[in-house]
Amino acid sequence: MKEAAPETKNIGLRGIKVADTRISDVNGEKGALIYRGYNIADLALQSTYEEVAFLLLNDHLPVKEELAKFKSELLPEREIPRVFIDVMRETPKSTHPMDVLQTSIAFLASFDPEARVETREANHRKANRLTAKLPTIVAAWDRIRNGLEPLTPDPKLNHAGNFLYMLKGNPPDPATARDFDVCLVLHAEHSFNASTFAGREVASTHAHMYAGIAAALGALSGELHGGANSEVMGMLLDIGEPGRAKAWVSEKLRKGGKIMGMGHAVYHTEDPRATVLRGICGELAGRLGNSRWCELAKAVETATKEEFRSLKGKEIYPNVDFFSAPVYHMMGIPRDLFTPVFAISRIAGWAAHIIEEKFAEAQPKPELYRPDSDYVGTYCGPEACAYIPLERRTTA
Ligand SMILES: CC(C)(COP(=O)(O)OP(=O)(O)OC[C@H]1O[C@@H](n2cnc3c(N)ncnc32)[C@H](O)[C@@H]1OP(=O)(O)O)[C@@H](O)C(=O)NCCC(=O)NCCS
Repeated sequence: MKEAAPETKNIGLRGIKVADTRISDVNGEKGALIYRGYNIADLALQSTYEEVAFLLLNDHLPVKEELAKFKSELLPEREIPRVFIDVMRETPKSTHPMDVLQTSIAFLASFDPEARVETREANHRKANRLTAKLPTIVAAWDRIRNGLEPLTPDPKLNHAGNFLYMLKGNPPDPATARDFDVCLVLHAEHSFNASTFAGREVASTHAHMYAGIAAALGALSGELHGGANSEVMGMLLDIGEPGRAKAWVSEKLRKGGKIMGMGHAVYHTEDPRATVLRGICGELAGRLGNSRWCELAKAVETATKEEFRSLKGKEIYPNVDFFSAPVYHMMGIPRDLFTPVFAISRIAGWAAHIIEEKFAEAQPKPELYRPDSDYVGTYCGPEACAYIPLERRTTA
C-alpha cells in the first residue's frame, strides 16, 4: 500500500525540506550551527567577518592571498552613488531604516551595469558590491536623519570597524570593534530561514540579485524574524530593572504575549549564537563598568524559562536576537538600527544562497518554486458563482 503523503499544509513549512544546500546546517536538537562545514563557535572565536563572507560565497576558507584580494575588492565598493545621499536628505526623517535599506537596494540595481548579467562571476561581483555598500547605506541614513554629514568609508578599517566609524564619527576601540566583528560573524548565515527563503524564491524566477536581496530585507524586517532584536531592547527598556523581570514576563505570558528573543522555530536547545553573545555582553559590560543591561537580560531569560516551564511544561531558550540587543545598545547603536545591522552581516549568506539557487550548486531542482494550496473560499457549485452585473447586484 502506498504511504500517505506527509501533511504539509498550514504548518508554516516547519520541517519541510525544500532544497539541498551546501552553505550551512542548523542542528536544532544539538544546538549546532555549521557554515560550510565549520562550527560557528570556532568561527566566532578565530575568524573575521571578511573571512566568513569569503567562506560563505566561495565554499572554502581563504588563504592569505585570497583574503587580501577579497578585501581589496570590497574596499572600492564601499562608496554609494551621490544621488543616494541627495534622496536621503529629501526622505522623511521618521522613515524606518529597514525601509530606507530595502528601497536603496532596489535602487542600487540602476547603478550596476551588471545588474542583469547572469554569469556566476558577475553574481559574485554583485555579492561583493552589496556586502560592501550595505553598511555605508545604513550609516549614511542614520547620520542624515540626525542632521549630520554622512562620512566617507575609511579604507584603513575593516568591515566591522568601518561601520562603527561611519555611524559615530570616530573609530571604535579595538575590543569593541572585535566584539562587533564577532556579532557580524554570528549573524552571517542561518540556512532556510524566512528572509533567505524569500531571497532564493525570488532568485528562482531568474530575477536579479538586487531583487532577491530586497525581498530578503522585507522578510527580515518583521518582528518574528530580524525585527526581534529591536523588540528585545524595547522590552528591556520597559522592564527597566532585574527586580521587575519576573512580574513583567509572567503577566506578558499569561496574557498570551510573546517574549521577544526567546524561542526558535528550529533550535530546541540554546541557540549557539546566543551563548557567544551572552559572553560578549558580559565582557562589554565589564569594560564599560556598567552591567545593568546584561543583568537585566539575564533576569528576563531566567524569568521566561521559569514561567514558560510552569505555564506550558516546556523549555524555552534565548535565540540570537536576545543578547544582541543589550550588546548593540551598549555599543551605542540606536535601537531601530539593530535589524539593519543584522542585514549588513546576513547579506553574505543571502548572496551565497542566491548564487547557489541560480546556478543549482547544491543539487538540480525545478528552477521555479511554485507551492500549491487548497482553495477553501466561496464556491457556489461546480461551475462557480453566477456573475451578476453591478447594476443588478443587490446583496454583497
Ligand atoms: C521564533 C518563533 C516564531 C518560533 O515559533 P514556533 O516555531 O511556533 O516555536 P515552537 O513551536 O517551539 O512554540 C511552541 C509554543 O511556545 C510558544 N512560544 C514560542 N516562543 C515564544 C515566546 N518567545 N514567547 C511566548 N511564547 C512562545 C508558541 O507560541 C507555542 O505555543 P503553543 O504551543 O501554545 O502554540 C517564536 O519562538 C517567537 O515568536 N519568538 C519570539 C520572536 C523572536 O525572538 N524571533 C526571532 C527568532 S530568531
